[in-house]
Amino acid sequence: MSAFKDNLLAGKTAFIAGGTSGINLGIAKRYAELGAKVAVAGRNPEKAANAAAEIGHGAIGLSCDVRDFAATRAALEAAVAQFGKLDIVISGAAGNFVAPALGMSANGFKTVVDIDLNGTFNVFRACYDLLNLPGASLIAITAGQAVNPAMLQAHVCAAKAGINQLIRVLAMEWGPSGVRVNGISPGPIAGTEGMARLSPTPESDRAITERIALRRFGEVGEVAESAVFLVSDSARYVTGTILDCDGGSQLGDARDRTGAQGMGVG
Ligand code: NAP
Ligand code: COA
Repeated sequence: MSAFKDNLLAGKTAFIAGGTSGINLGIAKRYAELGAKVAVAGRNPEKAANAAAEIGHGAIGLSCDVRDFAATRAALEAAVAQFGKLDIVISGAAGNFVAPALGMSANGFKTVVDIDLNGTFNVFRACYDLLNLPGASLIAITAGQAVNPAMLQAHVCAAKAGINQLIRVLAMEWGPSGVRVNGISPGPIAGTEGMARLSPTPESDRAITERIALRRFGEVGEVAESAVFLVSDSARYVTGTILDCDGGSQLGDARDRTGAQGMGVG
């Protein structure tokens, strides 16, 4: 179910870094469905080509590693050569593994910070002069670890916290040119690589959902709806914000420890 009208994004061009699977692919599909011309990019060229075919609507799949500024710039230029200057850029590429800090080498920590944080700087820095100004809209995909410390996630917590501040600074610096910069912080999203890594068993799934206010995992399509809102004209005065699309996860543990709710209170 969607509140958005058909062809909402007709005439818009979108580049989605990390758009070849999972949540970002869901965003790419929704943008294309709503009429945008879409380019998705990831490291694996075959995966990118398959994603483009799955998206349809003339989408293209490009290959780059966001840790490599020149390669990222080349992918952005290829999208512009195909579709024209960009109205929407999403930075969603990320890496994660579960490990305690003492089980993480310096390179393990650096790898995640390089993909998530430095990668987001690279994508946004490299796209700036390829944007349609004024009116362009950038979104970084962050996570709850940016705000809430989580065991076994030192690298992701550090990287995503950096992304949140980068969003705010770029919103200030680029706002005068008519560029909006926002973030989306998804909660646990069903069927994704990220959740497969963070919650490998039905028991861990249950332990997560029983603490969430809305008592369930989110769906890829639900994050995509938030991503449509942020790039739409309805959000034209929204910049520097991080939209939590997380069922209330960031509110904290929403279990009733008193039993009062079970007795008909609330
Ligand atoms: P995913 O399916 O693993 O998607 C990651 C994407 O990034 C793929 O397209 C991958 O393609 C690409 N990628 C990875 N490393 C890259 C690199 N160095 N350069 C360029 N592309 C790269 O992940 P997901 O679980 O859907 O997560 C998507 C985003 O949502 C991430 O930013 C994640 O932190 C955030 N998030 C996810 C959840 C969740 O529940 N899954 C919750 C909160 C936040 P290649 O492998 O081909 O490079
Ligand atoms: N525990 C501890 N360290 C780990 C690890 C784990 N489970 N997995 C990887 N590392 C370390 C490696 O040992 C290496 O460090 P070293 O050189 O000191 O040995 C470092 O991380 C880099 O690993 P490498 O496999 O070379 O990195 P890569 O660039 O090929 O892949 C990853 C990046 C590790 C993040 C990989 O998991 C990936 O590509 N992820 C993308 C998909 C994803 O994570 N999706 C979820 C998004 S939320």
